[in-house]
Amino acid sequence: MTTATSPSSEKAQPQLRAVRPSDAEALCAIFNMPGFRWGTLRMPFEMVEQVERRIAKSGQETTWIVAEVDGKVVGDGRLIGQSSPRRAHIGEINIGLDDAFVGKGIGSAILEALLDVADNWRALKRVELTVYADNEPAIRLYTRHGFEVEGRHVKAGFTDGEYHDLLAMARLRF
Ligand SMILES: CC(C)(COP(=O)(O)OP(=O)(O)OC[C@H]1O[C@@H](n2cnc3c(N)ncnc32)[C@H](O)[C@@H]1OP(=O)(O)O)[C@@H](O)C(=O)NCCC(=O)NCCS
Repeated sequence: MTTATSPSSEKAQPQLRAVRPSDAEALCAIFNMPGFRWGTLRMPFEMVEQVERRIAKSGQETTWIVAEVDGKVVGDGRLIGQSSPRRAHIGEINIGLDDAFVGKGIGSAILEALLDVADNWRALKRVELTVYADNEPAIRLYTRHGFEVEGRHVKAGFTDGEYHDLLAMARLRF
C-alpha cells in the first residue's frame, strides 16, 4: 500500500508565484506521484490536458500558487472562493507537493501565503478543507495553522483499493 513519503529535516526556501499555463506539465507530473495521490483525490494517469484546462478555467475567485525550488516547480496550493454571494466568506484550500520535497516546510510556506490572501486580501471568515483521517503530516500542518476538526466523513474516500475516512477541518475568523 502506498503511504506518505518520509520527511527529511532539511528545510527548503521556496519561491512562491502565481500559476502559469506553462506549469501544466510540471504540475501534472507531481499530481501523478504516488505520495501526492495518496493524500489527495487525484486519479492515476492524470493528463496534462486536464491540468491545462483547470489552469485556463481558474478565475478571480481562485488564488492558485506554485512553489519553486531552484527554478523547479515542487508543489502548488489553491484557495478557492465560492460563487454564491451568501457563501462569499468561505474559501477552500488544497495543497500538494512533489513527493521528494515533503517535510521541508514548503507546505507551511504555501499555506501561510494562502491564509494571508484569505485574511488580508479576500476578508474570508472561514477557510475549510477535507483531509484523509490518516494523513498525519497534513493534519499536523493544518492544526499548527489554526485549523480544527469539525467532523468526520466516514469511508468517504477510496484510495488504493480501500475506503478511508476524511476529516472536515476549518479555521474561523468571526
Ligand atoms: C501535506 C503536505 C502539503 C505538507 O507539506 P510539508 O511541506 O510536507 O509540511 P511541513 O514540512 O510543514 O510538515 C508538516 C508536519 O508534518 C510532519 N511530517 C512530514 N511528513 C511526515 C510523515 N510522513 N509522517 C509524519 N509526519 C510528517 C512534519 O515534520 C511537520 O510536523 P511539525 O509541524 O510537527 O514539524 C505534503 O506532505 C504533501 O504534499 N503531501 C501529499 C499531498 C497531500 O497529502 N496533500 C494534502 C491534502 S489535504
